[in-house]
Amino acid sequence: MAIDDKIKWDKKYSENSELLARRAPSEAVVKYYKMCSGKRALDLACGSGRNSLFLEEKGFSIDAIDISQIALNTLKSRAKSDRVKPILADLDRFNLGKDCYNFIVKCNFLDRGLIERAKEALKIGGIMIVETYMEDPKNQKQDSNPNFLLQKDELLEIFKDGFEVLEYRTFWNESFEKYRMKKASIAAKKL
Ligand SMILES: C[S@@+](CC[C@H](N)C(=O)[O-])C[C@H]1O[C@@H](n2cnc3c(N)ncnc32)[C@H](O)[C@@H]1O
Repeated sequence: MAIDDKIKWDKKYSENSELLARRAPSEAVVKYYKMCSGKRALDLACGSGRNSLFLEEKGFSIDAIDISQIALNTLKSRAKSDRVKPILADLDRFNLGKDCYNFIVKCNFLDRGLIERAKEALKIGGIMIVETYMEDPKNQKQDSNPNFLLQKDELLEIFKDGFEVLEYRTFWNESFEKYRMKKASIAAKKL
């Protein structure tokens, strides 16, 4: 386990309880879950599970992976069924498998290698949502690690082969976020 990440995120969650507040799911998740032909989902770096809990309501079985036990405990306490499976794991090295999911969601967490592994874990015809912060001169937080920020049109490049892009957009982040930051979001279907 990437022990530094675990310590960092458990500390963040224990010191900022608002990070565990109930939040609306990503708009892309709400829009595209309906197009999935099956009900197996994977929520990468799920946090307290705003997207997992929404998908549970819609009848999905969800593997919800995060490195923070605190976030997963919150998710577990809110889940209404055992269709949400919280998994404590380091996504740097967790084996996602191949061709197993109909819907994969990766929001507010950037690991480019993980996107490639997630593509393999998606079934043909499955849909992947990737949505996270991007570089922008007007971002309120200017000291973010650039490795964790998308470049302009980077998501389009990542999904240009073997996927149909259903939607790509950029937007200013949700009102509940602490800092005003630009985000990019893609919904892509595996061919
Ligand atoms: C900003 S939160 C995003 C939560 C959720 N996806 C959302 O959109 O609300 C980032 C999450 O990534 C998790 N995380 C960070 N590094 C990780 C790693 N190496 N493996 C698994 N999860 C990790 C953190 O614990 C945290 O819950």
